[in-house]
Amino acid sequence: MNLARTRWVYFSIALIILFGRPDQAAGQTATTRPARSWTNPLTEALIRDKATSLLRQMTLEEKVAQLSQLPGTDDDEFKENVQQSMDEVLRQFGAGSILWISDPKEINRLQHVAVEQSRLHIPVLFGLDVIHGYHTIFPAPIAMASSWDTEMVEAAQAVAAQESRAVGIQWTFAPMVDIARDARWGRMVEGAGEDPYLGAAMARAQVLGFQGQQLGAPDRVLACAKHFAGYGAADGGRDYDSSYIPEEQMWNTYLPPFKAAVDAGAGSLMSAYMDLNDVPASGNPWLLHDVLRDAWKFQGFVVSDAFAVRSLRIHGYARDPQDAAHKAFTAGLNMDMASGTYLKYLPIELQQKRISMQQIDDAVLPILETKFRMGLFEHPYVDESRREQTLNDPAHQEIARKTVQRSVVLLRNQGGLLPLDKAGKTIHSIAVIGPLGDAQADLLSMWGALTKPGPTISILQGIQAKVGSTVRVAFAHGPNLRRDIPSPFEGIELTAMMKEQPAQTAQETHQSIADAVTLARQSDVAILVLGEIDLMSGEYASRSSLKLSNGQEDLLEAVSAAGKPVVLVLVNGRPLDISWAAEHVPAILEAWYPGSQGGNGIADILFGDANPSGHLPVSWPRSTGQLPLYYNHNLTQNPETSPDFKSRYWDLLSSPLYPFGYGLSYTTFAFDNLKVSPTARTGGTIEVSADVTNTGGRAGDAVVQLYIHQRAGSASRPVRQLKGFERVALEPGAKRTVHFTLGKGELQFWSPTEKKWVVEPEQFDIWLGGDSTAALHAEFRLTE
Ligand code: BGC
Repeated sequence: MNLARTRWVYFSIALIILFGRPDQAAGQTATTRPARSWTNPLTEALIRDKATSLLRQMTLEEKVAQLSQLPGTDDDEFKENVQQSMDEVLRQFGAGSILWISDPKEINRLQHVAVEQSRLHIPVLFGLDVIHGYHTIFPAPIAMASSWDTEMVEAAQAVAAQESRAVGIQWTFAPMVDIARDARWGRMVEGAGEDPYLGAAMARAQVLGFQGQQLGAPDRVLACAKHFAGYGAADGGRDYDSSYIPEEQMWNTYLPPFKAAVDAGAGSLMSAYMDLNDVPASGNPWLLHDVLRDAWKFQGFVVSDAFAVRSLRIHGYARDPQDAAHKAFTAGLNMDMASGTYLKYLPIELQQKRISMQQIDDAVLPILETKFRMGLFEHPYVDESRREQTLNDPAHQEIARKTVQRSVVLLRNQGGLLPLDKAGKTIHSIAVIGPLGDAQADLLSMWGALTKPGPTISILQGIQAKVGSTVRVAFAHGPNLRRDIPSPFEGIELTAMMKEQPAQTAQETHQSIADAVTLARQSDVAILVLGEIDLMSGEYASRSSLKLSNGQEDLLEAVSAAGKPVVLVLVNGRPLDISWAAEHVPAILEAWYPGSQGGNGIADILFGDANPSGHLPVSWPRSTGQLPLYYNHNLTQNPETSPDFKSRYWDLLSSPLYPFGYGLSYTTFAFDNLKVSPTARTGGTIEVSADVTNTGGRAGDAVVQLYIHQRAGSASRPVRQLKGFERVALEPGAKRTVHFTLGKGELQFWSPTEKKWVVEPEQFDIWLGGDSTAALHAEFRLTE
C-alpha cells in the first residue's frame, strides 16, 4: 500500500469510529455493553507465570523499586528519602515508573539504563497526564462529554494514545472520572460532569480509546481512572478539601464511572488526595480493598496521586512517614507516586515485621503483569523516527475540528441570530472582543497546555479564516484576566505556556472597555469571547464565585449597550454566572476549552458550516449560592413538581438557569410515539422506543435522552435519572425510531436500608426527550 492510500484507509477508519456506521441505531444503555477482559497474544496464565518467576528472582529492594514511581522533576523530599540520582536507582534496582518525562531521547536513555544496566532488565513505565491530547489537543473532557458521543470520544483518545506512544509515553493518568456537582471546584473541567450514567459511558469510551480492545494493543497506552474516589465532592468546592459522602451516594453516584472504567479493562487506578469520610483515599482500605479488589475483582494496580502517600501525615492519619507508607501499603495502594516514601520505608517495615514479603509480592505482581501485558519486555524503546510524522498527521487535526463542532453547546439563540452570514451580504464587519478572543494556550486548558501541544487556532484566527476578505474583522482585547491569588503552576518549567495576563490599573481596564465599545459601534456584529484563562480552571483552580471576573461583566454590558447584535462565546471549564447575559444577550455559545482546532471548530458553528449539537453534562446554576446543584436529587416535601411550587429560596429561583442535558440546535426536533413494555419481572428487561423527527430546516444531530423515576421502594429515589441516550443525525424532515433496553444495570440501585444492590417491584415513570426536563412520558411496572 502506498503512503497516500495508507493515510486514506486510516482516515476512513477514524471517521467511521468518529461518526459510526449508518446502521448503528441502538441506543446506549449499560446492559447492552459487555465488560471487557484482558487478553493478549500471551494468555493470562502465561503472563502470570512469567511475572511470578521474575518475582522469585527479585531482591526486596528491586521489588520495592517496582512499587515506586520516580519523579521526573526535582523534589526535595524525594531527594531526602532517596539519596541517589535517578540513574543510580534505575541501575541498581530498576523502577516501576517515571513521571512527567516526555522527551523520547531521554525516555530511551533512561529505559536503556533500566533494561540494559539493571540486574533483571525490567522496563520502566513512563507516565504523563495526557488528558485530552498530547500534541493535537482535543476539547477538554467536560466539552467532550457535552458531545454525548462515545464513539467520537473513543476516537479522540485513540489519537491521544497514538501521539503519546510516538514520544515514548506508555501510561496516561486519565480518564478523570470524578463526578462533580459543584462548579466552584476547579477540576470539574477534567471530568464528564454531574451524572453517573453519562460519566460511566464517558469513562468506558475513554478507556477503550486509550487502551484499545486489549492492553498491549499497538499505539495505545495504559489508562488510569482517577481520582479514586469522591474527589469531586470536596467541601465547598475547595480543591483537596475533605469529602463526606454517605455509602449510598458512593455506590449510586460517585463509584459507577470507576466501575465502568474497570469493566472496560482499565489497567490502573489513581487514588485521590482528599479524606473520604475521615479516611484519606490514598490509605483507605474500604476503597482500595473492599470495593476495588473484593467487590469488583480488579486485577490491575493502584498508584497514589502525586506525593499523596507522604501527605497521609499531613492529614493527621499517619504518625510519621513510615506509618504513612504502612497505612497506604496495607490499605492496598501498589505504587507510590513521586514521594519516595515506599522506597525508604517499606524495607524497614519488612525488617520490623510490620508487613510480610507475601504482601509485597502481592503488590508487585500486578505491576509486572501489566508490563508483560503491554509487551514492554519485548518493545521497551520508542522509535524516535516516527515522532514527527505521527504528531503532525493532518488527520488528527481533522478529528480535533469535528470534535469541537460536536462539543460546543448553544445555550441561547434569540431571533435566530446564529448562524451568521459569512458571505458579506448582511454582515460587512465583525468585532471580535474579549480577553480570550485571540487566545491560543488558553484554549487548551491546563493539561492541554502541559504536554507538547502543536499550533492552536485562536477564535479570532478561525473567524478570519472563515470569512476571508469578504468581511472586515477587527479585534479589541478588553480587560486582562488574572487570578486574584496566583496559581502554583504558574512559572514552573513544564507549565510555561500557562500565563496570567499582565496586571492593569483601573484606568487601563476602563480604557480597554471603552475601546471595545468603540469597535462594536463601528461593526455590524460583536462576538464577545469571555470566560477563564487556563489557570482559572483545573487543579488548584477552585473559585468562590462564578461571576465573570476581571471586569468582563462590565465589558459585556457596555458592548451590549452599543446597540449591535451580540454573540457571547464562553471559554471556560465550568458553568459561570451568566444570568444577565441569559436575558440580554441574544446568542450564547458554550465553547469550553476547545483545544488546538478551537478557532476553526467554533467558526464552523458560528457561520453555520456545522450545526451545534452539544448538550450540558452539568446543571447550569443561576448563581454561585445554588451550589452544589444537580438534577438527579430526591423528591422531598413540597416538591418542585407540585403545581404551587415556586422556589426553595425566597430571593432566587432554585431551578437551574439551563437544565442538565440542555442544548439548542439550528434546527428543531420533535419526540413522540413513546412505547414502553408495560411490565417485566424484576430480573427482566423493559423495551423502550420512540420517534425523533427533525422538524426544522437544517440537518442536525439530536441527543435523545431517556430518564426514569422509581415511585416507591426501600429508599427515596431521585426525581429523574438518566438511563439511556443516543445521538441521532437527521436530515430536515427525517424521522428515526430509537430503541433502548432497560435491564438490571439501569433499574438497580444500592439501597441504604437493605445495604445491597436491589431491583424493586415498583411502578416507574419514564421520560424521553432532548434534556432532563423532557415531557414525553410513560410508565411501567416491575413485578416480583
Ligand atoms: C494531580 C493528578 C495528576 C498528578 C500527576 C496531581 O497533582 O492531582 O491528577 O495525575 O498530579 O501529574
